[in-house]
Amino acid sequence: MYRTHNCGELRLNDVGNAITLCGWVQRSRDLGGMTFIDLRDRYGITQLAFNMDTRPDLCREARKLGREFVIRAIGIVIERSSKNHKIPTGEIEMDVISFEILNAAETPPFTIEDETDGGDELRMKYRYLDIRRSAVRKNLELRHKMAFYTRNYLAGQHFLEVETPYMIKSTPEGARDFVVPSRMNQGEFYALPQSPQTFKQLLMVAGIDRYFQIVRCFRDEDLRADRQPEFTQIDCEMSFVDQEDILSTFEGLARHLFDAVLGVDPGVFQRMTWDDAMKKYGSDKPDLRFDMPFVEMTDLAKGKNFVVFDSSELVVGINATGCAEWSRKQIDELTEFVKRPQIGAKGLIYMKYNTDGTLKSSVDKFYDESELKKWVAAFNAKPGDMILVLSGDAMPTRKALCELRLEMGTRLGLRPKNVYKPLWVVDFPLLEWDEETRRFYAMHHPFTSPKKEDIALLSTNPGKVRANAYDLVINGVEIGGGSVRIFDRSLQNKMFELLGFTPEEAEKQFGFLLNAFRYGAPPHAGIAFGFDRWCALFGGSDSIRDYIAFPKNNAGRDVMIESPSTLAQAQLDELGLLVRQRREGN
Ligand code: AMO
Repeated sequence: MYRTHNCGELRLNDVGNAITLCGWVQRSRDLGGMTFIDLRDRYGITQLAFNMDTRPDLCREARKLGREFVIRAIGIVIERSSKNHKIPTGEIEMDVISFEILNAAETPPFTIEDETDGGDELRMKYRYLDIRRSAVRKNLELRHKMAFYTRNYLAGQHFLEVETPYMIKSTPEGARDFVVPSRMNQGEFYALPQSPQTFKQLLMVAGIDRYFQIVRCFRDEDLRADRQPEFTQIDCEMSFVDQEDILSTFEGLARHLFDAVLGVDPGVFQRMTWDDAMKKYGSDKPDLRFDMPFVEMTDLAKGKNFVVFDSSELVVGINATGCAEWSRKQIDELTEFVKRPQIGAKGLIYMKYNTDGTLKSSVDKFYDESELKKWVAAFNAKPGDMILVLSGDAMPTRKALCELRLEMGTRLGLRPKNVYKPLWVVDFPLLEWDEETRRFYAMHHPFTSPKKEDIALLSTNPGKVRANAYDLVINGVEIGGGSVRIFDRSLQNKMFELLGFTPEEAEKQFGFLLNAFRYGAPPHAGIAFGFDRWCALFGGSDSIRDYIAFPKNNAGRDVMIESPSTLAQAQLDELGLLVRQRREGN
């Protein structure tokens, strides 16, 4: 037997027992008469004690052990004279009788402890060392738990986990596809799925009724903290259901995860239409941990000779409650913040409602006290509040104010990590107009059904058609999204037509689905959750990378295995690929 126990389980009631432990040397401390070693494994740390008086040779050998050596130690559990209450094994230690080195280790490139000196890139290059740190390991444990409870819950609701292929052909979901060349069919390519969308719909046609899969998806898109080129979804589909059934079933899943993983009751799952979310918070994923809703004041603001407002489509603001005391410097910082290119506002107008009742704005020249009083009423401001206003074209102004609102929420400490505010955003528009290509795109995907009462608008005003589509948003993070699907061939064809597909293109790309719809497709609907995002949210992190064992960096590279990489000429030839070599400096 290699070991009798792991490094996290021994306690005072084990004192006196003979034990064998295996693990990595995290640290050693030489105190002259005694040498102590922290031995680490996945389960914890146990202190090994070497006594110079009783076993001088062994003690001398122990002093030679370097960091991250893998050892096996045999000894007796004894009570510690000075206890460490910070770790569960801190009341005991092992009085070592003998040990053997199972493997020596070179000095690691960074310290493998909770507080590491390793930078991001270095830790990614040596990710297997990074994972030895308990902070990273705990994230993977959380991920495992999330997957476990998800499977448990969904299986309990009669969902069947069915695997769908990874080598498929492209399904248009907005991002670019990763493709795989086919050796046997030269000049042809598989695409890696952006999601199993069409397959799960085919499984409904196949009568599976309730499907789920914890599944890898691949999207060649620009990367951010919450986006990886390969990520995982909890992908789900149900037959003979409407939107309400989906929302209640998956509110059930969410509540189960909150309870089982965090021991938290997330309270009411609010609902908000997409229109309201955009108007009130300038975002389809508002963070509802704090309110601070938008107040539109275009009519109030216009006609007072202030050109900035007069020339704006929308004037809109927020009431930063209790911020009237903010200094010039703090307001300048906010102004700089909204003027950053990513946010794009031209400037920031403010009005302070001072505690002494006076009103002071950055546009006093144009708005006298009686006008400013109207602002106070519109914003329902109280003495001590500060109103912040942006203006310009409607959509970009809403987006910029959304960023400012979040920034204020952060600065005012209104976005604590351990408070959760789930929200269903419903009634998304079906289509999105793109000025550049002058055509409509499906806002969710082409298989999403329009609301029954809006179907007539498809021919007259497609931009106004609402979809049976919904997102689950928690704390401003889009955790999942889905829709009720089209299951009728002619409506699906109409949708493809609206999206600019010729009948031939639709047939070529989606013939398999349209064909399946000939043979009795049931009404069906579904949703997919971003599993990595959900883990990060529960773990209290903004970056999904922390919850992926081997993630890619922001350039889409795995710096550990050095991928992507070039192929040998012979392999290219075999695949029939001609590759333009990248020249130095290109
Ligand atoms: P959607 O494209 O909205 O829907 O994706 C579902 C959820 O997946 C997560 N997500 C991502 N997570 C990490 N990295 C990415 N690059 C990434 N892209 C998306 C988000 C998102 O809410 N087939 C449909 C679902 C359906 O209609 O049932 C789909 O894939 O959390």
